[in-house]
Amino acid sequence: MLNEGKEKSKILLVEDSMTQATLLKRLLQSYNYDVVMADNGLNGSIIAKEIMPSLIISDVNMPVMNGYEMCKLIKKSEEMSNIPVILLTELSSSDDIIYGLECGADNFIIKPYTEKSLISRIDYLLATSRIRKSDGAGMGIELSLGSKTYMINSEKRQILNLLVSTYEKTIDQNRQLKEKEQELIALNAVLEKRVLEETARRMEKEQLLVQQSKMAEMGGMINAIAHQWKQPLNVISAMAQDLDDAFDYGQMDKEYLVSVRDTILKQVEFMTRTVDDFCGFLRPSKDKITFDIKKSIEEIVMMFSPYFRKSDISLNVILIEENVSAIGYPNEFKQVILNLINNAKDAIELTRGKTGHPADGRIDIGVTKEGGHLRVFVADNGGGIAEDIIDRIFEPYFTTKELHKSMGIGLYMSRTIIENHMGWRLTAANAGDGAEFVIEI
Ligand SMILES: Nc1ncnc2c1ncn2[C@@H]1O[C@H](COP(=O)(O)OP(=O)(O)OP(=O)(O)O)[C@@H](O)[C@H]1O
Ligand SMILES: [Mg+2]
Repeated sequence: MLNEGKEKSKILLVEDSMTQATLLKRLLQSYNYDVVMADNGLNGSIIAKEIMPSLIISDVNMPVMNGYEMCKLIKKSEEMSNIPVILLTELSSSDDIIYGLECGADNFIIKPYTEKSLISRIDYLLATSRIRKSDGAGMGIELSLGSKTYMINSEKRQILNLLVSTYEKTIDQNRQLKEKEQELIALNAVLEKRVLEETARRMEKEQLLVQQSKMAEMGGMINAIAHQWKQPLNVISAMAQDLDDAFDYGQMDKEYLVSVRDTILKQVEFMTRTVDDFCGFLRPSKDKITFDIKKSIEEIVMMFSPYFRKSDISLNVILIEENVSAIGYPNEFKQVILNLINNAKDAIELTRGKTGHPADGRIDIGVTKEGGHLRVFVADNGGGIAEDIIDRIFEPYFTTKELHKSMGIGLYMSRTIIENHMGWRLTAANAGDGAEFVIEI
């Protein structure tokens, strides 16, 4: 309601804070009220007497004279007692209500208040002020609260107004609390959904990376298998060529046939075993088991030594500790070792022949025990990792190699396997004339 078309009601605003007073004045003016201001209770009571406002709105805490005292003065004065007084209070204790009743205030506006509640309270008080004039004074009541006794002379309507205004505030706060609670519940649900989505996305991404790294490994495996097969295939091919000669020279007796058959079967058996070994290695381990680290390392070295030797790189097992077992996934552990030795091989091949770098590649794999913890290391003489990238090598898709050959996920996967799946640690450093990767178990 904009109070339009009527004679402007005059409101006396008693407030010591200039900012608060100006804001409130503007608000009241926008609702077409005439506003006069006073900066403390004493001045308020003097001005009130002078201008006889339709309503007084007063702050409580003010210098010189506070709002309660001013209200008491006004309500005691015969000519002014009918002017409704609204107190602006924070209502921090029940004493505030008692003080309000005691001083005869007509209404409370509890800070912080909304524009709507303030204006509707003013309208209500102005509309009922005539009725109030005829509502005789109530009987005095003595009220004890805590250690103090108060004398309440308020009218019934005033008591009701005050109680309703505090009750309204409580209801309003309760509603706000409920709204906030609903907002929190909704927010929580959104957050939970996001966490689930994010987890699913991460798992999908990790799954994809595992798949990609498997494919990359498979490429390396096929090279290794091809290399392992070369020797037996050469033997079989030589035997096949020999069959003609043996026939021409009449050497093809039973004994000759048995020897050819045994040699071929032996080579085929070797070839089958190679494939079985590699396939078994690619299969992920199902459960965490106690496995022999020494055996796992030796198996890897046995499978890959011939292939590495072809590139003039020696794979050396330096096992300082005996009986080194750990709980984890053995095949994944072997995949990590393979990633590390493949990286070492790449580094050696890149630096080989350059000044200051040895011609012979060397990769040492070993296990030591430190402070009750096992430490598996893979060290090479490939020149090491440049200091400006050493912090990034475990990031997914970080590579310094040709992009069509490498994806840069070997170390990311290795760390995921070692740290997330096994709960161990994988770190890198430069040592001697190359890099050293360490798995702390
Ligand atoms: N032993 C090492 N010596 C020197 N640099 C290394 C060594 N191991 C890793 N790096 C560096 O870390 C980078 C990341 O290695 P990572 O195994 O994650 O990826 P990649 O070998 O480049 O590619 P991918 O393994 O996917 O084929 C390498 O590109 C290389 O620059
Ligand atoms: Mg790699």
